Amino acid sequence: MTDILPETPALHADAIEGLFDRTFGPGHFAKTAERLREFSASLPEINRVAIENGEVVGVCRVWPLVVGAARTRALFYGPVAVAPEHRGGRLGQKVTRAALEAGKAAGWPAAILIGAPAYFGEVGFVVAPRGRLTFPGPQDPARVMVCDLAGEAALLEGLVTAP
Ligand SMILES: CC(C)(COP(=O)(O)OP(=O)(O)OC[C@H]1O[C@@H](n2cnc3c(N)ncnc32)[C@H](O)[C@@H]1OP(=O)(O)O)[C@@H](O)C(=O)NCCC(=O)NCCS
Repeated sequence: MTDILPETPALHADAIEGLFDRTFGPGHFAKTAERLREFSASLPEINRVAIENGEVVGVCRVWPLVVGAARTRALFYGPVAVAPEHRGGRLGQKVTRAALEAGKAAGWPAAILIGAPAYFGEVGFVVAPRGRLTFPGPQDPARVMVCDLAGEAALLEGLVTAP
């Protein structure tokens, strides 16, 4: 039985960091996405963890960002990670879906994610029109995705930055 819950930092934060250490290679912190996360703080009430037998086996973290000169609010989804021994059941999609529902319920207009279109397309993300969103570092445009929450993700345009 797997429970999908909001993150309670006192209970889950260390285990989440441990999961990231196990799932992402050493190059992870050099990524453009990490430059954005560095200057933001994730939202525990919107983040989702998958708990099995008291252990954190999956996570989707979510970060507030602003987009373009209009400084439109948006949520940045990721990292998404599942412990290697728990893969194969699309658990990463389950935590991402739950975090999307939480973002929508909290009134956030739109979501942004950098990831594999085949995998994240299955939870509602679509590749953003090329050039619509830019980042404070190199980024493959084929992996830049957006999703409607309580508004229209298609309206997002410009440089994505920390608030
Ligand atoms: C990506 C990840 C969360 C998927 O785990 P999961 O939800 O259990 O997914 P499953 O194993 O059930 O299925 C994964 C599917 O995505 C593919 N996939 C594997 N690694 C992937 C990755 N890094 N990004 C996107 N898709 C991936 C698999 O080929 C599989 O496709 P298929 O079923 O059509 O063959 C997990 O592999 C992981 O934690 N990877 C390391 C961290 C990572 O790369 N996160 C994504 C970017 S933020």
